[in-house]
Amino acid sequence: MKLVNWHKIVEYTFNSLPEAKPLEVMVGEKRIGLVKKQDKILAYAALCPHAGAPLCDGWLDPLGRLVCPLHKYRFDPANGRNTSGEGYKLYTYQLEIRCEEIWVGLPL
Ligand code: FES
Repeated sequence: MKLVNWHKIVEYTFNSLPEAKPLEVMVGEKRIGLVKKQDKILAYAALCPHAGAPLCDGWLDPLGRLVCPLHKYRFDPANGRNTSGEGYKLYTYQLEIRCEEIWVGLPL
């Protein structure tokens, strides 16, 4: 587990974040993607590792994989794995729910 600085997401709480809809928030100067999936919230880099498209304009497929809107590469938002096989890795962040608040851990 990496050492991180924890940041509270001020725009959403666990209950206000819509289910299965990728959203983008700013944490300091970082663009962070969030998606609620089966009662978990996952955090990842908001820009696609292939060519930088905004993943908040993408969607979750029926298997819960994040689909990039530009070239349709797919990523598992839980671990960043490029499930469509092109060999990219989506950066993911630690996330905790504390009394409905969403906290994201940014590496030190
Ligand atoms: S920019 Fe995301 S798949 Fe190409």
